Amino acid sequence: MMIRSKEELIFFVRSYYDVLFAVLVSVGFMFYFSAKAKKISGERDHIPGRLGVPFVGETFSFLSATNSTKGCYEFVRLRRLWYGKWFKTRIFGKVHVFIPTTGGAKTVFASDFAQFNKGYVKSMADAVGKKSLLCVPHESHKRIRHLLSDPFSMPSLSKFVTKFDKMLCQRLKKLEEHGKRFVVLDFNMKIAFDAMCEMLMSVTEESMLQQIEKDCTDVSNAMLSFPVMIPGTRYYRGIKARNRLMETFREMIEERRGRGKGAPEDFLQSMLDRDSLPPEEKLDDSEIMDNLLTLIIAGQTTTAAAMMWSVKFLDENPEAQDRLREEQLAILRKKPQGAALTLEDLNSMSYGLKVAKETLRMSNVLLWYPRVAITDCTIEGKSQYQERMACER
Ligand code: HEM
Repeated sequence: MMIRSKEELIFFVRSYYDVLFAVLVSVGFMFYFSAKAKKISGERDHIPGRLGVPFVGETFSFLSATNSTKGCYEFVRLRRLWYGKWFKTRIFGKVHVFIPTTGGAKTVFASDFAQFNKGYVKSMADAVGKKSLLCVPHESHKRIRHLLSDPFSMPSLSKFVTKFDKMLCQRLKKLEEHGKRFVVLDFNMKIAFDAMCEMLMSVTEESMLQQIEKDCTDVSNAMLSFPVMIPGTRYYRGIKARNRLMETFREMIEERRGRGKGAPEDFLQSMLDRDSLPPEEKLDDSEIMDNLLTLIIAGQTTTAAAMMWSVKFLDENPEAQDRLREEQLAILRKKPQGAALTLEDLNSMSYGLKVAKETLRMSNVLLWYPRVAITDCTIEGKSQYQERMACER
């Protein structure tokens, strides 16, 4: 393997075992895959890019950029400079085509499951579990999504508005009293995590929260890693953490079933309340556990990152900040002293909603949502072939 840049060198040193394994695999399979690779990058392909050596391709550059402060945008930016807006690369053993336009992205996402399918990599499925919404085949996806979405309906979520507002106010007040500087993202990650754990399974005890968060972070880090069980690697730590989490969730489920009446009203309970229903109207235990883990991970980083970006953008835009503050104060003035925030208050924050939407337009809080082309297809004149991953950015 050639180390072509500083970013690859840094990553190589940090992930020695991963690299060693990848080199062995690539040498072993080089001859087998070379004929296939030639065919893929043959004459009929009009998308420029570099596929690199079989299996490994540009995975290290991608992971290195992702783990740096610049994020994977740097990986994309450099290749766009080298090859143009449309480019292809090979990461995690698969050829990926980066689609640069909104129209192209719409074509991909609008035909989900017809022309394209979810295309998460092996490490992701191993980390969050095969029954996770992120990994299940189309047939089960519809059923699981339908069953999961019920506890996320507005009436169910509205119960948490006051709870979360109190939680946020208490923590901000504490910070204000101590007068300390703090890292916004760390603060957001903790509060988003605690809120998710309370909403999903009513866990509020600090030592338990810390243990679950540590394990979830290891699982999250393993989602994009080389899937080799070698001690010391991200993947190894992630799988071990996943096993501990599954054990914790299993104990919780058993405890709830034994408890009978008096169980808290949360996501987990709403799933267990379906125990006596026919199989197609409920989730089995492994589906519940994989999706508990998925929801914690999917809900924590996205929410925390979105809040962090909004703080940054509002700091850079005092006019918008003043307008947002005025809207909040106007709502507060209409309420009795000390009254809690309600769903109606949230619904009247029209400028706040715009700030949230603009934040999500300007920043990308979700790194990875590739699709696999099920059949050969052409998007905006560019051909993509079956078995390739399509990735919008
Ligand atoms: C600012 C907040 C959030 C943003 C911007 C966001 C964004 C996204 C996007 C773009 C996807 C689509 C991925 C794909 O199609 O491959 C997605 C999927 C998903 N998100 Fe979020 N999300 C946010 C918050 C949350 C929260 C709070 C939860 C959990 C409570 C959550 C759970 C999920 C799940 C389970 C999926 C997979 C859905 C499926 O495959 O049907 N997300 N999210």
